[in-house]
Amino acid sequence: MSDNKVILTDQASGKSLELPVIKGTEGDPTLDIKQLNGGLGYFTYDPGYASTSSCSSAITFIDGGKGILRYRGYPIEQLAENSSFLEVAYLLMFGELPTRAEYEDFENDITNHTMVHEKLNTFINGFHYDAHPMAVLCGVMGSLAAFYHDSLDMNDPAQRLLAAKRMIAKMPTIAAASYRHHMGWPTAYPKNSLDYCSRFLDMMFSVPAENYEVSPVAAKALNLLFILHADHEQNASTSTVRLVGSTGANPYACVASGIAALWGPAHGGANEAVLTMLDEIGSVDRVPEFIARAKDKDDPFRLMGFGHRVYKNHDPRASIIRKACHEVLAELGVDDPLLGLAMELEKIALEDDYFVARKLYPNVDFYSGIIYKALGFPTSMFTVLFAIARTTGWVAQWLEQADNPGRIGRPRQVYTGETERNYVALDDRA
Ligand code: ACO
Repeated sequence: MSDNKVILTDQASGKSLELPVIKGTEGDPTLDIKQLNGGLGYFTYDPGYASTSSCSSAITFIDGGKGILRYRGYPIEQLAENSSFLEVAYLLMFGELPTRAEYEDFENDITNHTMVHEKLNTFINGFHYDAHPMAVLCGVMGSLAAFYHDSLDMNDPAQRLLAAKRMIAKMPTIAAASYRHHMGWPTAYPKNSLDYCSRFLDMMFSVPAENYEVSPVAAKALNLLFILHADHEQNASTSTVRLVGSTGANPYACVASGIAALWGPAHGGANEAVLTMLDEIGSVDRVPEFIARAKDKDDPFRLMGFGHRVYKNHDPRASIIRKACHEVLAELGVDDPLLGLAMELEKIALEDDYFVARKLYPNVDFYSGIIYKALGFPTSMFTVLFAIARTTGWVAQWLEQADNPGRIGRPRQVYTGETERNYVALDDRA
């Protein structure tokens, strides 16, 4: 709370109300409007919640104007350079970087939960072969609640933690199984001798007929992308997890709802949409045509991977991924013309008044798909990869909320429908 107050005066009634100002450790001050309806009889209107803080959180800080992203105070650039995905997961969940012993315990715990109940595979096999892996992920994650009655007491911190670790551990197993089902390959079980990212690559791409060696370049690239995608404060999917969590729903249901929100092309689905868009553009000479379409208000087309609600300068994750994209493709010996196309698209868009005036820059999804493609992932898996990484953020945010539960999330509305009218019998209607 700050000493400052904002006084709101209703010119119609002459009544005034003092609103307290909440000041976090960083970021813009926030008006506490809890008393507004009781005091002046007003609600606030903020579609898309562009000016609304839905909670207090000590996990992730973003300054969109300056292009800053920090997890628990650590700049994303430092974590990307030095950390591992599981270390970042620990940091998000517990607030501090682990000591070596804490890290080893945590990694051990996660590794011990990588297998899924064999019956879960019957669910996956029940899907049609061409089911989108996000549909499979969403359904299967929700169904985990049916397998783990022992960790559904949300009032028990130990059970909450167990559920959180299970989800981080099992997401790659489920994700890989959804891909293998589509390919018609037999189930690959997690190899616990491998690290988190290598294990996932092995479950994705190994086949019984051949030896498969995980490429260290691929594992390192995945580790980087997972770190960058791990959390992003109150984005659409995380807010969804918290909203569902506020009802007391079990954590598997909360994360399943987060997966559903992430799937949308305006959110995590954009990484898949970027590649589809680049394929559709096809060559550099068609870039101006697509830029023109993106600017045309009568055309629903948007430049996918461009724009962000919060970043109005640059998305720091996009800068890291752009650099990594060149390095990874060179190390893997991949020459993908889509990279050149993406760079040309970015260059032209960044010089265009429409994009400059609206502060539209490439976001995290603009280049990530090109790396995923170089690692051998099909486009339909891109958002799944995002979901694996974001599970750590979702569970960290859910744990934070569960430690200090507030009221059920229940927004209000501006009603624009009919006022009261009387029922008319069916035969009397015109
Ligand atoms: N292409 C063309 N125009 C755009 C784009 C775009 N990608 N993004 C925003 N604009 C325009 C809008 O038409 C609007 O123009 P106007 O002021 O003339 O009406 C203006 O920029 C502001 O856009 P909003 O939609 O109000 O911005 P908002 O903050 O609500 O949306 C969003 C942000 C959803 C990311 C949007 O920029 C978008 O749809 N981008 C493409 C999809 C995408 O890449 N999503 C991934 C986001 S990152 C993530 O979730 C991981």
